[in-house]
Amino acid sequence: MSTPEPLVLGIESSCDETGIGIVQGSRLLANTISSSMQEHVRFGGVIPEIASRAHLEAIIPAVRAALDEAGVSLNDLDAIAVTAGPGLAGALIVGVSAAKALAVATGKPLYGINHLVAHVCVGLLEENGISDGAQLLQNARGGGLGALLVSGGHTEILQVQDITSDVRLLGATLDDAAGEAYDKVARLLGLDYPGGPAIDNAAQSGDPKAFVFPRGLSGRKFMGTAADPGAHRYDFSFSGLKTAVARVVAGFTARGQEVPVADIAASFQEAVVDVITQKAVLACQEQGMDTLLLGGGVAANSRLRQLLGQRCASAGVRLIIPKFTLCTDNGAMVAALGARLVAAGREPSELGFAPDSSLPVTTVCL
Ligand code: KG4
Ligand code: ZN
Repeated sequence: MSTPEPLVLGIESSCDETGIGIVQGSRLLANTISSSMQEHVRFGGVIPEIASRAHLEAIIPAVRAALDEAGVSLNDLDAIAVTAGPGLAGALIVGVSAAKALAVATGKPLYGINHLVAHVCVGLLEENGISDGAQLLQNARGGGLGALLVSGGHTEILQVQDITSDVRLLGATLDDAAGEAYDKVARLLGLDYPGGPAIDNAAQSGDPKAFVFPRGLSGRKFMGTAADPGAHRYDFSFSGLKTAVARVVAGFTARGQEVPVADIAASFQEAVVDVITQKAVLACQEQGMDTLLLGGGVAANSRLRQLLGQRCASAGVRLIIPKFTLCTDNGAMVAALGARLVAAGREPSELGFAPDSSLPVTTVCL
């Protein structure tokens, strides 16, 4: 049976954020986040064991805080949703075990959902100024909705025919994800983890034209033409860009010169954002998708939001961008996708499911 405005609690624990969100239909009622990010800074990246331990300590207080914030009790819920993958195996296990325990104790249905699909689903919450999110999903016909997912582990262009059951992969990165490239280049520039916000900040005072860095897989050989598309028309590659930045940094260091951090950050960012926005808009135009959902941690990037906005406007594509605070990992996105699954009358997951650290984006729910 379907419920039009289901009340769903979402649990996110795939990386270093313990997020609990509560959503009613398209309305966000609570979103509590407890992050272990500061514990990873001195290592320059997430240490899985530290993240898992932090989830274990944070998860029960976070559930309590979210229920209080929303003013609801566990009994009021229609369902519980949890990130089943992809992500760090040990970190996922904590969230999935907590969700199963809550589901068994309360008798509520449990949905083990895909983190990547949740990232692009969160943009449709009213919280982002979208009043017709549910209708957009229901009415998506023909080409469906486009989605650009840019996170720490994934960079993908998706075609969403039905967000509860039919998500197709049009293109993906062949090597590093965009967020990974930001984190690695930040390290080269001596900036702290996470590198995305650090480069975004440094780039504000830099010249994006100071260095011309490569735009991976954007040459004719890879793109082909509309009539005769190349094998990598919608794909990305960021490892050459990272190497190009490393060479420039090494050159300054070898000459005993100060590394122009702001100019390199701005030029690197321009290269990433240029190629991502160009390919996403092209996919929308060619696949008949007139709306594009943006999601993932890199969606918080100021230049990406700006350039994608401009290019979508010129192409007549409606762009849906999550609020800044809903871009990086959070529980609201898990609850948002859970609510769509319940509203569509989808079957809950069998309680015996195991988290899948490499769950493909095409599997919306286990
Ligand atoms: O989606 P997310 O929170 O976690 C994953 O599912 O991977 O994304 C984290 C990634 C990190 O690589 C981080 O550097 C990047 O998002 N990020 C940004 C910004 N804020 C976070 N990248 C560019 N600009 C930002 N402002
Ligand atoms: Zn994520």
